[in-house]
Amino acid sequence: MIFTDEDAVIGVFDSGSGGLAVLKELRASLPDQRFIYYGDHGNAPYGDRDADSIYALTLSSLTQLFAMGCSLVVLACNTAAATGLRRLQQTWLPVHYPDKRVIGVVVPMVEALTGVPWMAACDTGRRGVAGKTVAVFATRYTVNSRIFVDETAKRAPEINVVQQACPSLVKLIEAGAPLPALRRAVRRYVALLRHRLEGAHLSAALLGCTHYPLIEALFAEALPDGVEIFSQPKITAQSLVAYLARHPEFRSDLGPGVSFYTSTAPEAITRLAQRLLGDSQIQFQRLEACKAQV
Ligand code: DGL
Repeated sequence: MIFTDEDAVIGVFDSGSGGLAVLKELRASLPDQRFIYYGDHGNAPYGDRDADSIYALTLSSLTQLFAMGCSLVVLACNTAAATGLRRLQQTWLPVHYPDKRVIGVVVPMVEALTGVPWMAACDTGRRGVAGKTVAVFATRYTVNSRIFVDETAKRAPEINVVQQACPSLVKLIEAGAPLPALRRAVRRYVALLRHRLEGAHLSAALLGCTHYPLIEALFAEALPDGVEIFSQPKITAQSLVAYLARHPEFRSDLGPGVSFYTSTAPEAITRLAQRLLGDSQIQFQRLEACKAQV
């Protein structure tokens, strides 16, 4: 379905199915809004790619969403955000799409963690975890980028951030791996993280990849009791509600709804999405690749 520029549909982008958990919360918080979801499943996972390739794939995916009438896109992919959200906001959008906006998922989560929101409307009511040790679980690329470490240090330098890359998790989730295999993998990554803590008490864990909230229960099971888990779907929804309150021009007045697109054969992607979200209405359609202007 192609909308016109005036239609202001809200796009949600991820390398694959992880953004579906974010989309679910966006729809719950903004039930009157029209969304388009695009998963670049044909090129996932992004987390093992290099920066140039992730950036190029992100630009062409955004170009797809803009061509379908999205004025605002939620970049529901930490790996893409770590590679170049700031760069594309500052250099690519102003030149090629000055009227479009792209917002991310990393900063709202760090603000929720540190209790230092950029505005009162986005205040999650948390007081933050200052002076504590916090774990970040993310893709290899996101961990190497140190985006969560740096964004936390800017707001709360006293928080000790310990990172753990979980390179097999996105592949397992996208392959529809059975629960025992996912459970084993999560336990192994949590054990590796705990080993590196050298006895420090863990206060909170950030699920810094949008695929991981789909298996949040397995993280809760594997982490020690009392560790607060921060996952992005709810936090992102709160930040989008606040953003639209400040920028009502990006609200959609088409009425509620969502369309699902992928860069690969849609059948298996549809089955996985229906299972992950427990929603038999989800139907993905394939989009042909398009080239971004650079
Ligand atoms: N959901 C993406 C993220 O938040 C996964 C990236 C990947 O494809 O490896 O980072």
